[in-house]
Amino acid sequence: MKLGVCYYPEHWPEDLWADDARRMAELGISWVRIGEFAWSRIEPEPGRFDWAWLDRAVETLAAAGLRIVMCTPTATPPKWLVDAKPEILALDAQGRPRGFGSRRHYCFSSQTYLAECVRITEAVGARYGRHPGVGAWQTDNEFGCHDTTISYSAAAAQGFRDWLAGRYQSVDALNRAWGTVFWSQEYGDFSEVDPPNLTVTEANPSHRLDYNRFASSEVVRFNRAQSEILRRLSPGRDITHNFMGFYTEFDHFAVGRDLDFASWDSYPLGFLEQFWFSEEEKLGYLRQGHPDISAFHHDLYRGVGRGRWWVMEQQPGPVNWARYNPAPLPGMVRSWTWEAFAHGAEVVSYFRWRQAPFAQEQMHAGLNRPDNVLDQGGAEAAEVAGEVAGLGGLAPCGPAAVALLFSYEADWQFAIQPHAQGFRWLRLAFEMYSALRRLGLDVDILPPDADLSGYALVIAPSLPMLSEATLAALEASGAVVLFGPRTGSRTPEGHIPANLPPGPLQARLPVRVTRVESLRPGAGPVVEHYGRSFAGRLWREVLESDLAPLATFSDGGTAWTAHSSWHYLATWPEAALLDLVIARVALEADLPVLALEEGVRLRRRGDLLFAFNFAPEGRRTPAPADARYVLGGPELPPAGLAAWKIGAP
Ligand code: GAL
Repeated sequence: MKLGVCYYPEHWPEDLWADDARRMAELGISWVRIGEFAWSRIEPEPGRFDWAWLDRAVETLAAAGLRIVMCTPTATPPKWLVDAKPEILALDAQGRPRGFGSRRHYCFSSQTYLAECVRITEAVGARYGRHPGVGAWQTDNEFGCHDTTISYSAAAAQGFRDWLAGRYQSVDALNRAWGTVFWSQEYGDFSEVDPPNLTVTEANPSHRLDYNRFASSEVVRFNRAQSEILRRLSPGRDITHNFMGFYTEFDHFAVGRDLDFASWDSYPLGFLEQFWFSEEEKLGYLRQGHPDISAFHHDLYRGVGRGRWWVMEQQPGPVNWARYNPAPLPGMVRSWTWEAFAHGAEVVSYFRWRQAPFAQEQMHAGLNRPDNVLDQGGAEAAEVAGEVAGLGGLAPCGPAAVALLFSYEADWQFAIQPHAQGFRWLRLAFEMYSALRRLGLDVDILPPDADLSGYALVIAPSLPMLSEATLAALEASGAVVLFGPRTGSRTPEGHIPANLPPGPLQARLPVRVTRVESLRPGAGPVVEHYGRSFAGRLWREVLESDLAPLATFSDGGTAWTAHSSWHYLATWPEAALLDLVIARVALEADLPVLALEEGVRLRRRGDLLFAFNFAPEGRRTPAPADARYVLGGPELPPAGLAAWKIGAP
C-alpha cells in the first residue's frame, strides 16, 4: 500500500524540483509518474532530442528516494509532427480531422503514427529503461479519452478491410454474416467496404459491431507495440496503462493481457456528475461520490490486471471537466484512498502534485495550490501515509465469492441496437453490481471467458453473444447464476439465433423469448412479486416457458424465472426489485447478506473488514460490539471509514 503522485517537471521552474521531490518524500509519497505529455520538450524538432532537462528531473526525483513511473509521450504528438505528417490525425464520424491544440488527436490505425510511436518509445526506453530510479512504465495516457478510440481515416478504412479479409476469408462469408442482401448492401470485394459512417440512416448493425471489434483490436495492437519495446529495453520493470472510468469503447481485458498490472484514473465526483445518476443521487452524494462508482472500477481493473492494479490518478479536490465541479467533503480524499487499498490497490497516486496556473487544467486542484501551499487533498494524503505506516502491510485481496461478467462487446451491441433510448449495458451492469454491494458482498468483475471455478454466485448482467465456452465455465463452476435480459439474443455475427433468444442458453434453462418491446420511462412494465408491484425499466420480453415464474408481469407473463439455480430476468428491474432478486440468488448461493444502512459499503482485505460512509450524515458500522478496530470506530461520520479484524474480538 503505497502512495504516488503525477508530476510535470516541464511545467515548473527547475529551482522548484528538488524541493518538490523532498516534500513528496516527506509527505509519504513513494512513486512519481512523469513524462506522459512531454514529447515537445523531449524532441523539440524532428530527430533532435533534449534529454538534459529530463535527465536532471529523473536524477532529482530518484535522489529523494522516489520511484519513477516513466511514460511514453504518445498521447500528445507535437505540432511539428502533425504538420509534417497530417495523415496521423484521426477523423471524426463526419470525416473531419481532429485539430491540434489539445491531446489525443492521433489515429490508432495510422501506420505512420505507429512508426513515430515506435521511434519515440525506443528513444525514451533506451534512455531510461535501465535507470535504477525507474520502476515502472505507463504506455500513452488514457486510451480512448475524449472519444478517440474510433477513427474514420483512410488508414482506418484500409485497416478495417484487411481485418475483415482476415476474419471472413471470403466476401460471400462477409455478405452472409452482415445480411447485406437487405437494402442491396452486397459487396463484391473486401476493397469495396467502407467504415460505417456518413450513411443516410442507421448503418448495418453487424457492420458497426465489426467496426467496434476492429477499433478495439487496433488499441490492443498499438499498446502491444509499445509494451514489447519497453519489455526489451527495461527488463524487470512493470508496464501499465492508465484506463478510464465508465469507458467501454475497447476491450480493456484484451489490452490488459499485455500489461503487468492495470491502473485507472479515479474521479468520483466528476463521474457522478457526468453519468446517468438521478438528481437525488447527484445532490445526496455531491461531495462524496456515489458509493459504488470507485468500487466498481476497482473491482473491474483488478480483473483487467489479473489481480494487480493501481489507481494512477486519484481526484484530490475539485476537477475542471464536469458540468459542475464541487469540492470533496473534508475526509473524502482519505476515504477514497483507503477504499482503493481495501479493494486491493498496490498504489494510489494523486493527480496532480500542484495545481497548474496556466492552460486547460488551471481549475483542477492538486495536492498543492498553485502558490505551493499544501491543499486539503495533500493534507489528507499525508494522513493516509501515516495510517498506512501504522498499520503495516495487508495481504492481497483473495477471490470474492461473487463474479460479475463484464462484456465490452455486450456494451457495443446494446449501443448499436438500444431499442429503447437510454438502454445502456454498462448501466445495467453497474446497477446489478450496486445491488450486490448494498448487501455487503465483495465482487470480482471478470471477462466472459474467465475460469469461474470457486465462485458461488455469477451475475451475467446480459451476454447477448453468449458463447458455449461461457456456458461450459458456468456449468463447471456449479455456481448459482443470474442472467439479465437480452442474454443469448444475438449470434456472434449479430443475428437473432435460429431458435430465438436466449439462443444456446435454452438447452440449460428452458425459456424462449418470442417477442420483445421497449417502453418509454413511466410506461412500465409492472412486475408483481409476492403481492408487491414493482416497475421494470424500458424493456419487456415475452417468455414461452413451462417453468414456474418467480415474478410476473401484470398480464401474467413471466418476468423472472429459474431452473436448477440458473435464473433469468425478462426485464431490467428497478432498484427495489433488483435488491430482492439479488438477495434471493445470494441466499440460494449460501452467501451471508447484510442490510447495510444507506450509503455504507464494506470490503474485506486480508484479515480486515473495512466500512466506508458515503452518506452526507453519520452512520454506524455493522461490526459486532466487541470488534477490534484498527482504523476508526463504530461511529462513521460523513466521509468516515473504519476497519476491524474479522472474527477477532
Ligand atoms: C485525466 C487525464 C489527466 C488529466 C485529468 C484531469 O483524464 O489522464 O491527464 O487531464 O484527467 O482530471
